[in-house]
Amino acid sequence: GKVAVLFGGSSAEREVSLMSGAAVLAALQHAGVDAHAFDPAERDLHILKEEGFDRVFIALHGRGGEDGTVQGALELMGIPYTGSGVMASAISMDKWRTKMVWLAAGLPTPRYAILDADTDWAAVVADLGLPIFVKPAHEGSSMGATKVVEAAQLRAAWELAARYDSLVIAEEFVSGQELTAPFLEDRVLPLVRIVAPDGNYDYQNKYFTDVTRYDCPCGLPEAEEQALQALVMKSARVLGCRGWGRADLILTEDGKPYLLEMNTSPGMTGHSLVPMSASVAGLSFEALCLELLKGARL
Ligand code: DAL
Ligand code: MG
Repeated sequence: GKVAVLFGGSSAEREVSLMSGAAVLAALQHAGVDAHAFDPAERDLHILKEEGFDRVFIALHGRGGEDGTVQGALELMGIPYTGSGVMASAISMDKWRTKMVWLAAGLPTPRYAILDADTDWAAVVADLGLPIFVKPAHEGSSMGATKVVEAAQLRAAWELAARYDSLVIAEEFVSGQELTAPFLEDRVLPLVRIVAPDGNYDYQNKYFTDVTRYDCPCGLPEAEEQALQALVMKSARVLGCRGWGRADLILTEDGKPYLLEMNTSPGMTGHSLVPMSASVAGLSFEALCLELLKGARL
């Protein structure tokens, strides 16, 4: 049947989604799938039904695509789609609620504070220490995020993040190895270690430079990697994720893991980490896209 690849959209991550979607579309078409591009910022989603699409590959990132809204529309239209359903998408898009679910389940995540105009900035610094990561709660790709290294920067970092989102979160800096772990159905793929220059794995270094080093296999002893994979599967399960996703984490020098966030519609660009990990697991980009499409459901 006809497959719509949803990409573009109107979130701050539109540019990233255009790259992800173009790559997915080309791979599916190359594999012989009757796949078509569909940008929900340009066309009303409801036309999918009229035009006879019977499955959707979601390659949207951020709000209005990764946050449960598109998933809800597809549920109502009865068109199967890739990835998590409404609830897991909505919670995972929200860094605060994600942490609350993980903490309630006893899973480790860095300490945090919610920032607003009434925040006692000195108290936040006293509580979380420095540096502090300040992030809009509902963004991806480090959009609007700042690594605050001195107390005087905190307020400006909040102001920047608040331009993206009314909910802003500050997170303690946990020093250690930066890792990411994709999962495909109930299997966690090989972890990727991210080594960014000076630890700045920001928007530029995510997509537009070649200064970030990625190790996959990640170099951890097998038992340690397996323990992290089990943690990641649990972190996905408690959020209700399905199909696929990618958890980002930090592993401290003394071996303690901290979950940072869950991405329910991970990047599929040439720089992205799910395709990198999948290829180490023996899945080509094309095979990965077909596998994801096969998992489409309601
Ligand atoms: N938010 C980006 C697309 C990612 O997690 O890969
Ligand atoms: Mg993210």
